[in-house]
Amino acid sequence: MIDLIVTGDNVIDRYNDYSGAGALYISDDKIESFEKQKADPDSVDKNARFIDAGDKIISPGLVDMHVHLREPGREDEETIITGCEAASAGGFTAVCCMPNTRPVIDSQEVVRFILSRSRFSSARVFVIGSISRDLDGKQLSEIGDMVDAGIVAITDDGKSVMNAQLMRNGMEYAGMFGIPVISHAEDMNLSKNGKVNEGYISTVLGIKGIPSIAEDIIVARDIYLSKFTNTPIHIAHISTKGSVNLVREAKEEGIIVTAEATPHHFSLTDELLRSFDTNLIVNPPIRTQADVDALHEGLKDGTIDCVASDHAPHSPEEKDVEFNQAPFGMLGLETSVGLSLTYLVHKGVLTIEGLLEKMTVNPTRILKLPYNGFQAGSLADVTIIDPDLEWIVDASKFRSKSRNSPYVGYKLRGKAVCTICNGKVVYSENSMG
Ligand code: DOR
Repeated sequence: MIDLIVTGDNVIDRYNDYSGAGALYISDDKIESFEKQKADPDSVDKNARFIDAGDKIISPGLVDMHVHLREPGREDEETIITGCEAASAGGFTAVCCMPNTRPVIDSQEVVRFILSRSRFSSARVFVIGSISRDLDGKQLSEIGDMVDAGIVAITDDGKSVMNAQLMRNGMEYAGMFGIPVISHAEDMNLSKNGKVNEGYISTVLGIKGIPSIAEDIIVARDIYLSKFTNTPIHIAHISTKGSVNLVREAKEEGIIVTAEATPHHFSLTDELLRSFDTNLIVNPPIRTQADVDALHEGLKDGTIDCVASDHAPHSPEEKDVEFNQAPFGMLGLETSVGLSLTYLVHKGVLTIEGLLEKMTVNPTRILKLPYNGFQAGSLADVTIIDPDLEWIVDASKFRSKSRNSPYVGYKLRGKAVCTICNGKVVYSENSMG
């Protein structure tokens, strides 16, 4: 029995290299069939829900491979349920959650806890375990056990693994288990006490800076370790021109390195810090126009494989402090699609196909997620996007538990208008009926 039909003129399925009209016939949580022509509402089962997307884009569900869900430990900032609601409202059918929770995701127990909580969430959750126990940078986590429980990668995100020997061991284990290592690239001696990009603005503002070399040095080290151990390395939230060049050269050499960029790193520069908005405090810091240009170049030529939000909720009490005291991080799930369309697609950096590739196929390939686009038997996860819808970011509409976005009040062009996960409509704008 068909429960849901989604049809339109503008299907873009980057998994199967298809652009054109189409109709998805969904039964329960799976795609029963996909046809390369529009469905006629008069000739289909009247019991099925019928969504006509018109000329809006119908894509396989978007994946955000870098999300902080905060549960367990900081349920005042976000929970698995609210984070997933934010994901659904932002057009994401799957998120990958980072291990810097309390307790840290460093054992099978915590992985199982998260997976069991996410059984009732509106988006799929894929868990990323830590490289080191309690993120202490000293001893490896129970990587094999966590792989058995279902993790898709390891990282100490939020911190850098400063000990190259430990990183090497982590990579060798990850290689054995067939999962990638995600590098939070930051030499923590070079970045110590820094809050913003080191440069003209940090000097003018009198705030200790984080130099670009703090990132570049670890990116270079991890590329070398990847080559040495023959293990895939994925560079999280790449932010500097130097790192983009390093990744580009490594790819040319055939090293298995991939990278992601966040909307805040490709849309903002440190000039904005003159506002002293603590929501702009992120790690790595927002950088200069030259870095933003390099990110655009890297996104365009394929050096940067993915767009990921680094959704990092923080409470108002924590963010409503002086610059030097503010924790790093900003929300991302509900603005990622709008920012990517506004700053990449509408500015001619990427085509819509190019952007969707970085939000669907590429994260799926890197993390070996169970997605293969619109084919019979595939998971019924779908995102409908209106690439031209203009909207204003309104904090009161956020599904996230937190409000720490510097984009509040920004006018964006492009938005996810309907999200279907597991065959259920989990988010829908009024315009979608
Ligand atoms: O800005 C950030 N916030 N960068 C990170 O690496 C960690 C994250 C967090 O957990 O708040």
